[in-house]
Amino acid sequence: MKRAIYPGSFDPLTLGHVDIIERSSRIVDELVVGVLNNSAKNSLFSLEERVSMIREMTDLLPNVTVSSFNGLLVDYMDEIGATIIVRGLRAVTDFEYELQIAQTNHVENPNVETIFLTTSLQYSYLSSTIVKEFASYGGDISKFVPAQFIDKIYQKYAVRPPCLPHGGR
Ligand code: PNS
Repeated sequence: MKRAIYPGSFDPLTLGHVDIIERSSRIVDELVVGVLNNSAKNSLFSLEERVSMIREMTDLLPNVTVSSFNGLLVDYMDEIGATIIVRGLRAVTDFEYELQIAQTNHVENPNVETIFLTTSLQYSYLSSTIVKEFASYGGDISKFVPAQFIDKIYQKYAVRPPCLPHGGR
């Protein structure tokens, strides 16, 4: 039984994250989406909101569960019996940071392996940071995040969603 964790901040969940969740859930037996309780970071969405948004999107995936964790990822993996970390790689700019954390985690616990999925081409530019930047100025985020979360995100910035000329919504 191969249990994997897809860790991240997911603030907010993007279509790129959903793509990685769906694809990796077909590779491993069980996938836990682990939401980091990053109290030091100024999150747009609370931990509970982030967990509930991911649950809503993964409801129909039978081998996917969602939980939150504090502290070191390798410690949490020990707690839940996961040995594989899943991460998405967008561009070469991700590589250095991802390599560093993958190697550190492996040194901390040699049973832990990280597998990287290259993001699908249509999401290769996408990040939660970009979504927040666009939304904060009232930009169109309909191609970036699941449709049901679009208004929630605009509400956080108290901006009016744009009128989309091309039938985006
Ligand atoms: O979506 P993010 O913010 O890029 O995810 C980063 C994450 C959550 C994978 C990473 O910060 C993490 O694992 N944090 C938990 C603390 C930890 O284990 N740090 C050591 C990594 S070397």
